[in-house]
Amino acid sequence: MAKGKTATVFYCQSCGYESMKWMGQCPGCREWNTFVEETVSRTQLKTTGGQLKNQTERAEACVLSDITISEENRIMTGLEELDRVMGGGIVQGSLTLVGGDPGIGKSTLLLQVCRNLADKGHKVLYISGEESQVQIKMRADRIGSFAEQMLLLCETSLDTISEIIRQKKPEVVIIDSIQTMYNDNVSAAPGSVSQVRESTAILLQLAKGLGVSVFIVGHVTKEGTVAGPRVLEHMVDTVLYFEGDRHASYRILRGVKNRFGSTNEIGVFEMREQGLVEVQNPSEYMLSGRPENASGSIVACTMEGTRPLLIEIQALVCHSNFGIPRRQTTGTDFNRVNLLMAVLEKRSGVQLSGCDAYVNITGGMKIMEPAIDLGIVLAILSSFRNKVLSPKLLAFGEVGLSGEVRGVSMAKQRVTEAEKLGFEVCIVPYVCMEECQKNSKIKVVGVKTVQDAIDYLL
Ligand code: TYD
Ligand code: MG
Repeated sequence: MAKGKTATVFYCQSCGYESMKWMGQCPGCREWNTFVEETVSRTQLKTTGGQLKNQTERAEACVLSDITISEENRIMTGLEELDRVMGGGIVQGSLTLVGGDPGIGKSTLLLQVCRNLADKGHKVLYISGEESQVQIKMRADRIGSFAEQMLLLCETSLDTISEIIRQKKPEVVIIDSIQTMYNDNVSAAPGSVSQVRESTAILLQLAKGLGVSVFIVGHVTKEGTVAGPRVLEHMVDTVLYFEGDRHASYRILRGVKNRFGSTNEIGVFEMREQGLVEVQNPSEYMLSGRPENASGSIVACTMEGTRPLLIEIQALVCHSNFGIPRRQTTGTDFNRVNLLMAVLEKRSGVQLSGCDAYVNITGGMKIMEPAIDLGIVLAILSSFRNKVLSPKLLAFGEVGLSGEVRGVSMAKQRVTEAEKLGFEVCIVPYVCMEECQKNSKIKVVGVKTVQDAIDYLL
Protein backbone atom coordinates (compact mmCIF):
# COMPACT_ATOMS: atom_id res chain seq x y z
CA MET A 1 0.00 0.00 0.00
CA ALA A 2 1.22 3.50 -0.82
CA LYS A 3 2.43 5.59 2.08
CA GLY A 4 -0.20 7.73 3.77
CA LYS A 5 -3.04 6.16 1.85
CA THR A 6 -6.18 5.25 3.72
CA ALA A 7 -7.79 1.88 3.22
CA THR A 8 -11.11 0.46 4.20
CA VAL A 9 -11.31 -2.71 6.17
CA PHE A 10 -14.37 -4.62 7.31
CA TYR A 11 -14.45 -5.62 10.96
CA CYS A 12 -16.78 -7.97 12.78
CA GLN A 13 -18.18 -5.84 15.61
CA SER A 14 -18.67 -8.92 17.72
CA CYS A 15 -15.25 -10.58 17.71
CA GLY A 16 -13.02 -8.19 15.77
CA TYR A 17 -12.46 -10.47 12.74
CA GLU A 18 -10.83 -8.48 9.97
CA SER A 19 -11.72 -8.88 6.33
CA MET A 20 -11.04 -7.04 3.11
CA LYS A 21 -14.61 -7.52 1.92
CA TRP A 22 -18.03 -7.53 3.50
CA MET A 23 -19.45 -10.84 4.62
CA GLY A 24 -22.88 -11.79 5.85
CA GLN A 25 -21.65 -14.25 8.44
CA CYS A 26 -18.47 -13.84 10.40
CA PRO A 27 -16.13 -16.84 9.92
CA GLY A 28 -14.68 -16.12 13.36
CA CYS A 29 -17.69 -16.09 15.64
CA ARG A 30 -20.49 -17.21 13.26
CA GLU A 31 -22.56 -14.13 14.03
CA TRP A 32 -24.66 -12.67 11.22
CA ASN A 33 -24.62 -9.12 9.97
CA THR A 34 -21.82 -7.90 12.19
CA PHE A 35 -19.43 -6.57 9.55
CA VAL A 36 -18.94 -2.82 9.42
CA GLU A 37 -16.66 -0.87 7.13
CA GLU A 38 -13.96 1.23 8.77
CA THR A 39 -11.30 3.45 7.29
CA VAL A 40 -7.83 2.75 8.56
CA SER A 41 -4.76 4.76 7.83
CA ARG A 42 -1.89 2.29 8.10
CA THR A 43 0.92 4.80 8.19
CA GLN A 44 -0.71 6.78 10.97
CA LEU A 45 -1.14 3.68 13.05
CA LYS A 46 2.53 2.95 12.71
CA THR A 47 3.61 6.39 13.95
CA THR A 48 1.33 6.08 16.97
CA GLY A 49 3.09 2.90 17.98
CA GLY A 50 6.46 4.58 17.65
CA GLN A 51 5.51 7.59 19.71
CA LEU A 52 4.18 5.48 22.50
CA LYS A 53 7.31 3.41 22.66
CA ASN A 54 9.40 6.52 23.12
CA GLN A 55 7.24 7.73 25.97
CA THR A 56 7.59 4.64 28.10
CA GLU A 57 10.87 3.64 29.64
CA ARG A 58 13.10 1.19 27.84
CA ALA A 59 12.55 -2.33 29.02
CA GLU A 60 15.43 -4.36 30.41
CA ALA A 61 15.61 -8.11 30.72
CA CYS A 62 15.94 -9.26 34.31
CA VAL A 63 16.37 -12.47 36.24
CA LEU A 64 13.03 -14.06 37.11
CA SER A 65 14.09 -15.13 40.58
CA ASP A 66 15.10 -11.55 41.41
CA ILE A 67 11.53 -10.36 41.13
CA THR A 68 9.85 -10.23 44.49
CA ILE A 69 6.11 -10.21 45.02
CA SER A 70 4.97 -8.27 48.03
CA GLU A 71 1.51 -8.21 49.55
CA GLU A 72 0.99 -4.53 48.74
CA ASN A 73 0.76 -5.33 45.06
CA ARG A 74 -2.90 -6.07 45.50
CA ILE A 75 -5.47 -3.50 46.52
CA MET A 76 -8.60 -4.71 48.28
CA THR A 77 -11.77 -3.12 46.98
CA GLY A 78 -13.80 -3.81 50.11
CA LEU A 79 -16.39 -5.57 47.98
CA GLU A 80 -15.66 -9.14 48.96
CA GLU A 81 -17.46 -10.69 46.03
CA LEU A 82 -15.45 -8.62 43.57
CA ASP A 83 -12.15 -9.24 45.35
CA ARG A 84 -12.74 -12.96 45.18
CA VAL A 85 -13.62 -12.93 41.50
CA MET A 86 -10.45 -10.96 40.81
CA GLY A 87 -8.38 -13.53 42.67
CA GLY A 88 -7.90 -11.49 45.88
CA GLY A 89 -8.03 -7.80 45.08
CA ILE A 90 -6.88 -5.52 42.29
CA VAL A 91 -3.36 -6.20 41.03
CA GLN A 92 -1.21 -3.12 40.63
CA GLY A 93 -0.73 -2.20 36.99
CA SER A 94 -3.41 -4.55 35.70
CA LEU A 95 -5.97 -3.94 33.01
CA THR A 96 -9.45 -5.26 33.76
CA LEU A 97 -12.37 -5.35 31.38
CA VAL A 98 -15.86 -5.23 32.87
CA GLY A 99 -18.39 -6.25 30.24
CA GLY A 100 -22.15 -6.45 30.37
CA ASP A 101 -25.41 -5.36 28.84
CA PRO A 102 -26.21 -1.66 29.01
CA GLY A 103 -28.07 -0.77 32.21
CA ILE A 104 -26.98 -3.86 34.10
CA GLY A 105 -25.04 -1.85 36.70
CA LYS A 106 -21.42 -1.66 35.55
CA SER A 107 -21.10 2.05 36.30
CA THR A 108 -22.76 1.56 39.67
CA LEU A 109 -20.43 -1.29 40.60
CA LEU A 110 -17.30 0.62 39.65
CA LEU A 111 -18.46 3.79 41.36
CA GLN A 112 -18.89 1.75 44.52
CA VAL A 113 -15.40 0.36 44.09
CA CYS A 114 -14.17 3.95 43.79
CA ARG A 115 -15.99 4.93 46.96
CA ASN A 116 -14.50 2.07 48.95
CA LEU A 117 -11.00 2.70 47.64
CA ALA A 118 -11.20 6.45 48.28
CA ASP A 119 -12.39 5.76 51.82
CA LYS A 120 -9.30 3.65 52.39
CA GLY A 121 -7.08 6.48 51.16
CA HIS A 122 -6.32 5.22 47.66
CA LYS A 123 -6.27 7.81 44.92
CA VAL A 124 -8.84 6.96 42.26
CA LEU A 125 -9.82 8.63 39.01
CA TYR A 126 -13.20 7.95 37.46
CA ILE A 127 -13.35 8.91 33.80
CA SER A 128 -16.75 8.96 32.20
CA GLY A 129 -17.45 9.46 28.54
CA GLU A 130 -21.12 8.75 28.88
CA GLU A 131 -22.47 10.87 31.67
CA SER A 132 -22.03 14.44 32.82
CA GLN A 133 -20.51 15.31 36.18
CA VAL A 134 -23.95 16.20 37.54
CA GLN A 135 -25.36 12.84 36.47
CA ILE A 136 -22.51 10.99 38.16
CA LYS A 137 -22.93 13.13 41.26
CA MET A 138 -26.61 12.19 41.40
CA ARG A 139 -25.75 8.52 41.17
CA ALA A 140 -22.98 8.93 43.71
CA ASP A 141 -25.39 10.55 46.15
CA ARG A 142 -27.57 7.46 46.03
CA ILE A 143 -24.60 5.26 46.79
CA GLY A 144 -23.21 7.27 49.72
CA SER A 145 -20.60 9.84 50.60
CA PHE A 146 -17.23 10.01 48.88
CA ALA A 147 -13.82 10.84 50.30
CA GLU A 148 -11.58 13.50 48.79
CA GLN A 149 -9.33 10.92 47.16
CA MET A 150 -11.90 10.42 44.45
CA LEU A 151 -11.36 12.43 41.28
CA LEU A 152 -13.89 12.73 38.50
CA LEU A 153 -13.28 13.50 34.86
CA CYS A 154 -15.75 13.70 31.99
CA GLU A 155 -13.67 13.26 28.87
CA THR A 156 -13.53 11.12 25.76
CA SER A 157 -10.22 12.10 24.21
CA LEU A 158 -7.49 9.65 25.10
CA ASP A 159 -4.75 12.22 24.61
CA THR A 160 -6.24 14.37 27.35
CA ILE A 161 -6.90 11.33 29.50
CA SER A 162 -3.33 10.03 29.30
CA GLU A 163 -2.02 13.48 30.14
CA ILE A 164 -4.23 13.74 33.21
CA ILE A 165 -3.30 10.25 34.36
CA ARG A 166 0.40 11.09 34.08
CA GLN A 167 -0.18 14.34 35.93
CA LYS A 168 -2.45 13.16 38.77
CA LYS A 169 -0.84 9.70 39.18
CA PRO A 170 -3.90 7.85 40.52
CA GLU A 171 -3.62 4.27 41.77
CA VAL A 172 -6.83 3.12 40.10
CA VAL A 173 -8.46 4.49 36.95
CA ILE A 174 -11.95 3.66 35.68
CA ILE A 175 -12.78 4.17 32.00
CA ASP A 176 -16.53 4.25 31.47
CA SER A 177 -16.88 3.18 28.70
CA ILE A 178 -14.26 2.16 26.14
CA GLN A 179 -16.79 2.55 23.33
CA THR A 180 -17.01 6.30 23.90
CA MET A 181 -13.25 6.90 23.89
CA TYR A 182 -11.41 8.12 20.82
CA ASN A 183 -7.90 8.64 19.70
CA ASP A 184 -7.14 11.35 17.13
CA ASN A 185 -4.72 9.12 15.24
CA VAL A 186 -7.46 6.72 14.24
CA SER A 187 -9.93 8.05 11.74
CA ALA A 188 -12.72 5.59 12.52
CA ALA A 189 -15.63 6.65 14.75
CA PRO A 190 -15.65 6.02 18.52
CA GLY A 191 -16.99 2.55 19.25
CA SER A 192 -15.57 1.03 16.06
CA VAL A 193 -13.25 -1.94 16.28
CA SER A 194 -10.09 -0.07 15.31
CA GLN A 195 -10.84 2.81 17.67
CA VAL A 196 -11.65 0.53 20.60
CA ARG A 197 -8.53 -1.57 20.01
CA GLU A 198 -6.23 1.40 19.67
CA SER A 199 -7.67 3.04 22.80
CA THR A 200 -7.18 -0.14 24.78
CA ALA A 201 -3.60 -0.44 23.56
CA ILE A 202 -2.89 3.07 24.89
CA LEU A 203 -4.50 2.26 28.22
CA LEU A 204 -2.50 -0.95 28.39
CA GLN A 205 0.74 0.97 27.96
CA LEU A 206 -0.34 3.45 30.64
CA ALA A 207 -1.26 0.67 33.05
CA LYS A 208 1.98 -1.24 32.59
CA GLY A 209 4.18 1.83 32.30
CA LEU A 210 2.90 3.76 35.31
CA GLY A 211 1.69 0.87 37.45
CA VAL A 212 -1.88 2.15 37.44
CA SER A 213 -4.68 -0.37 37.71
CA VAL A 214 -7.19 0.36 34.98
CA PHE A 215 -10.79 -0.82 34.76
CA ILE A 216 -12.41 -0.61 31.34
CA VAL A 217 -16.17 -0.77 30.95
CA GLY A 218 -17.36 -2.42 27.74
CA HIS A 219 -20.98 -2.65 26.69
CA VAL A 220 -22.19 -5.84 25.15
CA THR A 221 -24.38 -5.02 22.19
CA LYS A 222 -26.43 -7.48 20.24
CA GLU A 223 -27.07 -5.16 17.29
CA GLY A 224 -23.41 -4.89 16.42
CA THR A 225 -23.48 -1.09 16.17
CA VAL A 226 -20.49 -0.73 18.45
CA ALA A 227 -17.60 -3.10 18.98
CA GLY A 228 -18.29 -5.54 21.78
CA PRO A 229 -15.94 -6.38 24.66
CA ARG A 230 -14.94 -9.66 23.00
CA VAL A 231 -12.81 -7.64 20.60
CA LEU A 232 -10.48 -6.78 23.48
CA GLU A 233 -10.57 -9.91 25.59
CA HIS A 234 -7.13 -10.97 24.41
CA MET A 235 -5.52 -7.63 25.24
CA VAL A 236 -6.48 -7.27 28.89
CA ASP A 237 -5.36 -9.16 32.01
CA THR A 238 -8.75 -9.84 33.48
CA VAL A 239 -12.17 -10.10 31.91
CA LEU A 240 -15.22 -9.85 34.14
CA TYR A 241 -18.78 -10.10 32.91
CA PHE A 242 -21.62 -8.57 34.81
CA GLU A 243 -24.83 -10.29 33.96
CA GLY A 244 -28.32 -10.92 35.17
CA ASP A 245 -31.93 -10.56 34.23
CA ARG A 246 -32.74 -6.89 34.11
CA HIS A 247 -36.18 -7.56 35.49
CA ALA A 248 -34.83 -9.46 38.47
CA SER A 249 -32.72 -7.66 41.04
CA TYR A 250 -29.79 -10.05 41.24
CA ARG A 251 -26.61 -9.60 39.25
CA ILE A 252 -23.76 -12.06 38.74
CA LEU A 253 -20.16 -11.06 38.26
CA ARG A 254 -18.15 -13.74 36.52
CA GLY A 255 -14.48 -14.02 35.82
CA VAL A 256 -13.97 -15.22 32.22
CA LYS A 257 -10.26 -14.64 32.03
CA ASN A 258 -7.86 -13.87 34.82
CA ARG A 259 -4.10 -13.72 34.63
CA PHE A 260 -3.90 -13.37 38.41
CA GLY A 261 -6.28 -15.99 39.70
CA SER A 262 -8.81 -18.64 38.83
CA THR A 263 -11.91 -18.02 36.76
CA ASN A 264 -14.07 -20.40 38.72
CA GLU A 265 -15.37 -17.71 40.99
CA ILE A 266 -18.61 -15.84 40.73
CA GLY A 267 -19.83 -12.86 42.71
CA VAL A 268 -23.49 -12.26 43.35
CA PHE A 269 -24.96 -8.82 43.97
CA GLU A 270 -28.41 -7.43 44.42
CA MET A 271 -29.42 -4.10 42.90
CA ARG A 272 -31.16 -1.98 45.51
CA GLU A 273 -32.15 1.65 45.87
CA GLN A 274 -28.74 2.52 47.34
CA GLY A 275 -26.75 0.66 44.73
CA LEU A 276 -25.40 -2.87 44.68
CA VAL A 277 -25.38 -5.00 47.81
CA GLU A 278 -23.37 -8.18 48.10
CA VAL A 279 -25.41 -11.34 48.42
CA GLN A 280 -23.98 -13.65 51.05
CA ASN A 281 -26.12 -16.67 50.27
CA PRO A 282 -26.74 -16.62 46.52
CA SER A 283 -28.79 -19.80 46.30
CA GLU A 284 -31.82 -17.96 47.65
CA TYR A 285 -31.57 -15.45 44.85
CA MET A 286 -30.83 -17.87 42.08
CA LEU A 287 -33.81 -19.95 42.89
CA SER A 288 -36.11 -17.26 44.17
CA GLY A 289 -39.57 -17.83 42.84
CA ARG A 290 -38.87 -21.54 42.70
CA PRO A 291 -41.96 -23.45 43.75
CA GLU A 292 -41.77 -25.06 47.16
CA ASN A 293 -42.76 -28.67 47.58
CA ALA A 294 -43.77 -28.98 43.97
CA SER A 295 -43.14 -32.13 42.06
CA GLY A 296 -41.47 -32.00 38.66
CA SER A 297 -38.84 -29.43 39.54
CA ILE A 298 -35.10 -30.00 39.74
CA VAL A 299 -31.96 -27.92 39.38
CA ALA A 300 -29.36 -28.88 36.79
CA CYS A 301 -26.04 -27.38 35.84
CA THR A 302 -25.02 -26.46 32.34
CA MET A 303 -21.86 -24.86 30.98
CA GLU A 304 -22.08 -21.56 29.15
CA GLY A 305 -18.78 -21.69 27.34
CA THR A 306 -16.42 -22.16 30.26
CA ARG A 307 -18.94 -20.84 32.76
CA PRO A 308 -21.19 -23.08 34.83
CA LEU A 309 -24.81 -22.00 35.07
CA LEU A 310 -27.47 -23.41 37.34
CA ILE A 311 -30.94 -23.66 35.90
CA GLU A 312 -34.26 -25.02 37.05
CA ILE A 313 -35.94 -27.68 34.93
CA GLN A 314 -39.67 -28.10 35.31
CA ALA A 315 -41.80 -30.90 33.98
CA LEU A 316 -45.52 -31.48 34.00
CA VAL A 317 -46.74 -34.94 33.14
CA CYS A 318 -50.45 -35.63 33.08
CA HIS A 319 -52.89 -38.11 31.64
CA SER A 320 -53.63 -37.55 27.99
CA ASN A 321 -57.20 -37.21 26.79
CA PHE A 322 -56.36 -37.83 23.18
CA GLY A 323 -55.00 -40.77 21.25
CA ILE A 324 -51.75 -39.00 20.49
CA PRO A 325 -50.19 -37.58 23.63
CA ARG A 326 -49.06 -33.99 23.53
CA ARG A 327 -45.42 -33.16 24.16
CA GLN A 328 -44.10 -29.67 24.42
CA THR A 329 -40.77 -28.13 25.41
CA THR A 330 -39.65 -24.60 26.13
CA GLY A 331 -35.96 -23.79 26.27
CA THR A 332 -34.65 -27.21 25.26
CA ASP A 333 -34.67 -29.64 22.33
CA PHE A 334 -38.07 -31.19 21.66
CA ASN A 335 -36.67 -34.32 20.05
CA ARG A 336 -34.23 -34.85 22.87
CA VAL A 337 -37.04 -34.80 25.41
CA ASN A 338 -39.00 -37.34 23.36
CA LEU A 339 -35.94 -39.55 23.21
CA LEU A 340 -35.38 -39.31 26.97
CA MET A 341 -39.00 -40.23 27.61
CA ALA A 342 -38.60 -43.28 25.39
CA VAL A 343 -35.48 -44.29 27.33
CA LEU A 344 -37.36 -43.88 30.60
CA GLU A 345 -40.21 -46.02 29.31
CA LYS A 346 -38.06 -48.79 27.87
CA ARG A 347 -35.26 -48.98 30.44
CA SER A 348 -37.11 -48.18 33.63
CA GLY A 349 -40.57 -49.41 32.75
CA VAL A 350 -42.31 -46.09 33.34
CA GLN A 351 -45.57 -45.97 31.38
CA LEU A 352 -45.38 -42.56 29.77
CA SER A 353 -46.97 -43.34 26.42
CA GLY A 354 -50.42 -42.32 27.61
CA CYS A 355 -49.26 -39.05 29.10
CA ASP A 356 -48.95 -35.48 27.95
CA ALA A 357 -45.62 -33.98 28.92
CA TYR A 358 -44.44 -30.40 29.12
CA VAL A 359 -40.82 -29.53 29.88
CA ASN A 360 -39.71 -26.02 30.64
CA ILE A 361 -36.35 -24.40 31.40
CA THR A 362 -37.16 -21.42 33.57
CA GLY A 363 -35.69 -17.99 33.11
CA GLY A 364 -35.97 -17.90 29.33
CA MET A 365 -32.75 -19.84 28.80
CA LYS A 366 -32.21 -22.05 25.75
CA ILE A 367 -30.09 -25.05 26.65
CA MET A 368 -29.07 -27.76 24.22
CA GLU A 369 -26.26 -29.30 26.25
CA PRO A 370 -26.75 -33.05 26.85
CA ALA A 371 -25.52 -32.61 30.44
CA ILE A 372 -29.01 -31.58 31.50
CA ASP A 373 -30.47 -34.94 30.33
CA LEU A 374 -30.43 -36.45 33.78
CA GLY A 375 -32.20 -33.40 35.17
CA ILE A 376 -34.92 -33.65 32.52
CA VAL A 377 -35.44 -37.36 33.18
CA LEU A 378 -35.69 -36.84 36.94
CA ALA A 379 -38.04 -33.87 36.56
CA ILE A 380 -40.34 -35.91 34.31
CA LEU A 381 -40.38 -38.83 36.71
CA SER A 382 -40.86 -36.60 39.72
CA SER A 383 -43.94 -35.11 38.09
CA PHE A 384 -45.20 -38.50 36.88
CA ARG A 385 -44.99 -40.03 40.36
CA ASN A 386 -45.98 -36.73 41.98
CA LYS A 387 -43.02 -36.95 44.31
CA VAL A 388 -41.20 -33.84 45.47
CA LEU A 389 -37.42 -33.74 45.09
CA SER A 390 -35.26 -31.98 47.66
CA PRO A 391 -34.71 -28.31 46.80
CA LYS A 392 -31.02 -28.70 47.72
CA LEU A 393 -30.50 -31.35 45.07
CA LEU A 394 -28.74 -30.92 41.77
CA ALA A 395 -28.27 -33.45 38.98
CA PHE A 396 -26.34 -33.50 35.74
CA GLY A 397 -25.17 -36.12 33.27
CA GLU A 398 -25.77 -37.21 29.72
CA VAL A 399 -28.25 -40.04 29.26
CA GLY A 400 -27.55 -42.64 26.62
CA LEU A 401 -30.02 -44.82 24.74
CA SER A 402 -29.53 -47.82 26.98
CA GLY A 403 -30.27 -45.73 30.04
CA GLU A 404 -26.65 -45.28 31.05
CA VAL A 405 -25.48 -42.01 32.57
CA ARG A 406 -22.42 -40.80 30.71
CA GLY A 407 -19.69 -38.48 31.84
CA VAL A 408 -19.72 -34.78 31.04
CA SER A 409 -16.94 -32.25 30.70
CA MET A 410 -15.93 -29.92 33.52
CA ALA A 411 -17.86 -31.90 36.11
CA LYS A 412 -15.76 -30.49 38.93
CA GLN A 413 -16.62 -26.89 38.00
CA ARG A 414 -20.30 -27.75 38.02
CA VAL A 415 -20.09 -29.29 41.47
CA THR A 416 -18.07 -26.32 42.74
CA GLU A 417 -20.74 -23.96 41.41
CA ALA A 418 -23.45 -26.00 43.13
CA GLU A 419 -21.49 -25.96 46.36
CA LYS A 420 -21.04 -22.22 46.05
CA LEU A 421 -24.75 -21.72 45.63
CA GLY A 422 -25.62 -23.69 48.71
CA PHE A 423 -26.63 -27.07 47.31
CA GLU A 424 -26.21 -30.16 49.47
CA VAL A 425 -26.43 -33.17 47.17
CA CYS A 426 -25.14 -33.62 43.63
CA ILE A 427 -26.12 -36.53 41.43
CA VAL A 428 -23.29 -36.96 38.93
CA PRO A 429 -22.21 -39.57 36.37
CA TYR A 430 -20.28 -42.37 38.08
CA VAL A 431 -17.18 -41.79 35.97
CA CYS A 432 -16.97 -38.21 37.18
CA MET A 433 -17.53 -39.02 40.84
CA GLU A 434 -13.89 -39.23 41.93
CA GLU A 435 -12.99 -35.95 40.26
CA CYS A 436 -16.02 -34.22 41.79
CA GLN A 437 -15.38 -35.45 45.32
CA LYS A 438 -11.91 -33.91 45.49
CA ASN A 439 -11.84 -31.10 48.08
CA SER A 440 -15.58 -30.68 48.07
CA LYS A 441 -17.82 -30.61 51.12
CA ILE A 442 -20.96 -31.26 49.14
CA LYS A 443 -22.34 -34.80 49.02
CA VAL A 444 -21.61 -36.35 45.64
CA VAL A 445 -23.57 -39.37 44.47
CA GLY A 446 -22.29 -41.18 41.38
CA VAL A 447 -24.84 -43.03 39.24
CA LYS A 448 -24.15 -45.50 36.42
CA THR A 449 -27.66 -45.65 35.03
CA VAL A 450 -30.87 -43.67 35.15
CA GLN A 451 -32.29 -46.50 37.26
CA ASP A 452 -29.57 -45.91 39.89
CA ALA A 453 -30.63 -42.28 40.18
CA ILE A 454 -34.29 -43.24 40.41
CA ASP A 455 -33.57 -45.83 43.10
CA TYR A 456 -31.66 -43.23 45.06
CA LEU A 457 -34.24 -40.47 44.79
CA LEU A 458 -37.74 -41.60 43.91
P1 TYD B 1 -25.75 1.51 35.50
O1 TYD B 1 -24.68 1.32 36.49
O2 TYD B 1 -25.96 2.88 34.95
O3 TYD B 1 -25.59 0.49 34.31
P2 TYD B 1 -24.47 0.40 33.18
O4 TYD B 1 -23.37 1.31 33.54
O5 TYD B 1 -24.08 -1.05 33.18
O6 TYD B 1 -25.12 0.77 31.91
O7 TYD B 1 -27.06 0.99 36.22
C1 TYD B 1 -28.28 1.36 35.74
C2 TYD B 1 -29.43 0.70 36.45
O8 TYD B 1 -29.23 0.49 37.84
C3 TYD B 1 -30.59 1.60 36.31
O9 TYD B 1 -31.59 0.91 35.59
C4 TYD B 1 -31.01 1.94 37.68
C5 TYD B 1 -30.37 0.94 38.56
N1 TYD B 1 -29.91 1.49 39.87
C6 TYD B 1 -30.55 1.11 41.03
O10 TYD B 1 -31.51 0.35 41.01
N2 TYD B 1 -30.09 1.60 42.22
C7 TYD B 1 -29.05 2.45 42.31
O11 TYD B 1 -28.68 2.87 43.42
C8 TYD B 1 -28.40 2.84 41.10
C9 TYD B 1 -27.24 3.78 41.14
C10 TYD B 1 -28.86 2.34 39.90
MG1 MG C 1 -22.86 3.10 32.59
